[in-house]
Order: sequence, then C-alpha cells, then structure tokens
Amino acid sequence: MREVNLLDSYPRIKRPLREREQARPRQREVARRFGREYFDGDRTQGYGGYYYDGRWLAVARRMQEFYGLMPGHRVLDVGCAKGFLLHDLRQVIPGIRVAGLDISAYAIGQAIEDVRPFLVLGSADRLPFADRSFDLVVSINTVHNLDLDRCKQAIREMERVSRAYKYLQVDSFLTEEQRENFERWQLTALTYFPPDGWRRLFAAAGYTGDYYWTVTE
Ligand SMILES: C[S@@+](CC[C@H](N)C(=O)[O-])C[C@H]1O[C@@H](n2cnc3c(N)ncnc32)[C@H](O)[C@@H]1O
Repeated sequence: MREVNLLDSYPRIKRPLREREQARPRQREVARRFGREYFDGDRTQGYGGYYYDGRWLAVARRMQEFYGLMPGHRVLDVGCAKGFLLHDLRQVIPGIRVAGLDISAYAIGQAIEDVRPFLVLGSADRLPFADRSFDLVVSINTVHNLDLDRCKQAIREMERVSRAYKYLQVDSFLTEEQRENFERWQLTALTYFPPDGWRRLFAAAGYTGDYYWTVTE
C-alpha cells in the first residue's frame, strides 16, 4: 500500500468556486444522475464539457512505468466515464487488454469508439467480474460518490477482482480551507474524509492497493 500521486502530470486547476456557489440542491440532484447535464451541461451541474484532450496520455505512461504494464496485461477502470484513460493506455501499450465500468449510460454511450466495446454499465460496489481477473484495477474520483457502506463495498470489490495492483484516487482535504473549498465545490460526493479517515476505511475494507487524494484548491 503506497501513497503515490499517479496523476501528477494531470493539469492542476484552480477551480472557479464562485461559479458553483449558487449550486442549489436541485443542481446537485441533476449532477448525481450522471447524465448529459453532469458531463456536457453547464459548469454549475458538473464538468461543463467532458472532452478528450489527451491529458490522460501522461497518466497512462506513468501507470505503465509504475506498474510495469505490458501487452497482454488486463486493466479495469472503475468509473471510467467516456473511457479516456483506457483509450490512452491502449495508445501507450498496444496489446494491453482494457475494461471499464460506469454507472452512466450517457458516458458509455459517448465513449471513444475504440474502447466502447470494452465498457459495461454497472455500479462500483457490484463489479461483474471474476475474482483476480485484472492485473491493475484503477478507480479515479468515483467511489466517494457512494454512501459509506457502498463505498466500503466498492473498495472491497477492487481488492477482489485484482490479482496484483490497485490504484484508488478519492476526494480529500489536508487543511480546513481545502475542506471548505471542497464543500463549496462538490456536487456528487457522499463519502469524504481527510486522509486518516480514508486510510481507516481502506483498512476496514481490506484494501492493499495504492492511493492518492484529489484536493480542491
Ligand atoms: C468525477 S467522474 C470521474 C471520471 C473519470 N474516472 C475521471 O477521472 O475523469 C465520476 C465518475 O463516477 C461515475 N460513477 C458515479 N457513481 C458510480 C457508481 N456507483 N459506480 C460506477 N461509477 C459511478 C460517474 O458516472 C462518473 O463517470
């Protein structure tokens, strides 16, 4: 179990908190459906446009090096959205075998074409895969969207379907200011803690993989 930031190449964004200050319960409700409004609607309800721009390529290279990924290895992305990371893993490591799961029929329907056949609709806490079927299981900014019991179960599921590596990234905060920023910004998270709280949950779920935090600046 290592605390390691494999998204260190991912652009750090100063989030426009003001744009979200108006987020009313209604907008949170819309965001939590993880439909078109969340991905490609306006910024008050989610991403404000979730487009492919190649930013995952560097993350894919980092994962390749860190885990020694090779052609033939199997990788699962839990909460894969439109499959951008999986697409880029295939660019970086031709011959790698990918799978993705997401609760959003919209995102899967809009996924990059080459990975769409490998994506399934489902929930992180009930992965439709056999025990130990992947060399690497990744989940980025997804399991905090489940309530505490289901979040714990989702972490257990990552452990179950992996035969080697796991990488989990979740929303967290290191300071009180970051906690306030997070609470002003976030629309969909149901379970969130400072790092120590997450580490306790990882231990309770029997998680042995790597992890890192997404912090709202
Ligand atoms: C913040 S987005 C992250 C997407 C992608 N991993 C990334 O980092 O760009 C959260 C994703 O989690 C998905 N999601 C939410 N609840 C989920 C669940 N119970 N099971 C699987 N995916 C879920 C959403 O549809 C969305 O694609």
